[in-house]
Amino acid sequence: MGACGVGKTNIISRFYSGSFVENSPSTVGIDYCTKTVKINKEDVSLTLWDTSGQELFFSLVRNFLIYFDFIVFVYAVDNKESFKNVETYFQFYQEKKLNIGTLLVGNKIDVPVEEKVVTTEEGKEYARKNGMEFFEVSAKAGTGLKEDFFNP
Ligand code: GTP
Repeated sequence: MGACGVGKTNIISRFYSGSFVENSPSTVGIDYCTKTVKINKEDVSLTLWDTSGQELFFSLVRNFLIYFDFIVFVYAVDNKESFKNVETYFQFYQEKKLNIGTLLVGNKIDVPVEEKVVTTEEGKEYARKNGMEFFEVSAKAGTGLKEDFFNP
C-alpha cells in the first residue's frame, strides 16, 4: 500500500518477472499475481496484491485488508508527501486490528542523491516506532528486490 506513483506495481513486477516499466499506468482498484518461491527449501505460493494509491479506491482497499497475511507500506524516497501518506495507510491497517507482519519500503533509491528528500534515518525511525521491518529498494535498478531475499 502507498501513494500513487511510488512504484508499487513496478516493485511487484521486478520481483515477479524481473521487469520494469518506465511510465506504467496507474493501477485500477486492486490487481494480483501469484508466484511460487522457495523458503527454507519448501515451495511457498505467494499471492501479491497490488493496491491502487488513488483515494477513489480507499474503501475497496480497506475492505481487502482482512485477507492479507502481510502488508508492505511503500513511499518514494524522492517524494516527501508519499512518506507522510504512509501514515494514512498505516491507520487503515490499525483500524482493522490485524495481527500480521508489516514492512516499510522506501522505493526509488536509484534517484540522484540531491533528489532524495526522505532520509534513510527518517524511514528507519518511522518503521522502528511502528514495529515494522524497513528496506530501501529500487524497482528500476532491482536493488533489494531479488528472490534470494527469502534465503539469504
Ligand atoms: P499507482 O498504481 O498509481 O498507485 O502507482 P504505483 O505505486 O503502482 O507506481 P508505478 O509502479 O506505476 O510507478 C509510477 C512511476 O514511477 C512510473 O513512471 C515508474 O516507471 C516509476 N518508478 C517506479 N519505480 C521506480 C524506481 O525504483 N525508480 C525510479 N526512478 N522510478 C520508478
